[in-house]
Amino acid sequence: MRLFQRTEFADPVVNPASAEFEVNNWIISEFVLKVLVPVVGIRPFPLNEQMLMVSAVCRFRPSLILEWGTHRGVSARVFCETIRAFRIPAAIHSIDLPDDVFHGEHPKSDRGVLVRGMSEVTLHQADGVTRALELCADRKTHDKVLFYVDGDHSHASVTRELSAILEQQPEAIVLLHDTFYQSPDSGYNIGPYTAIAEVLSKQAARYKMIRTTTGLPGMTLIYPERSAPAA
Ligand SMILES: C[S@@+](CC[C@H](N)C(=O)[O-])C[C@H]1O[C@@H](n2cnc3c(N)ncnc32)[C@H](O)[C@@H]1O
Repeated sequence: MRLFQRTEFADPVVNPASAEFEVNNWIISEFVLKVLVPVVGIRPFPLNEQMLMVSAVCRFRPSLILEWGTHRGVSARVFCETIRAFRIPAAIHSIDLPDDVFHGEHPKSDRGVLVRGMSEVTLHQADGVTRALELCADRKTHDKVLFYVDGDHSHASVTRELSAILEQQPEAIVLLHDTFYQSPDSGYNIGPYTAIAEVLSKQAARYKMIRTTTGLPGMTLIYPERSAPAA
């Protein structure tokens, strides 16, 4: 049972005309604590990462959210609860590998359990970036797309996925998980962090970045730089 009955929240976007990212952290905090945590807990996403996911969706109001890997559906559930509570009309597509493709983290019969029956979420089984970009090809031209990249966390996979997204959808908003940086002698997987730095260094377009940097697992938001509208 939910601890809190209110399901809709005030718009948390502050200074909407500014080129700088800003949200009302108190509204986002209340939503995370009272709606998300009772449903999804704090693993794999600690509070600061849930705050960044919700803030990105509220600030950019994507009409299409394309995410992988689904696993049990925690991230898909975070996005779904967010668009419901903040009245953001969006379709969510969540992709995990087919059952006959081996991956050490494949959820098997638990795939998407947390979002089954939620009408905003469509589950797919395919390679994440390939299916996501196919879905983009069908989108309406005014659709704003948010990609959430949380599949295989090797340097090679994140390089392949982020390069393909920015090449084909340079206006996209991209969130990536497991992106924490620690010195290489830590033994941590810093493949996603280095992949992001390398891919962005090759882009002609300019992007801004917001990161959670205090500890594992780490999340990074990338969005196109734009000027503030004329006053
Ligand atoms: C760490 S889990 C993702 C956690 C999940 N987002 C959540 O909310 O709990 C990684 C998932 O990515 C899937 N995966 C790995 N490579 C993939 C790929 N190329 N395309 C789609 N899914 C992939 C795995 O099967 C696994 O379910």
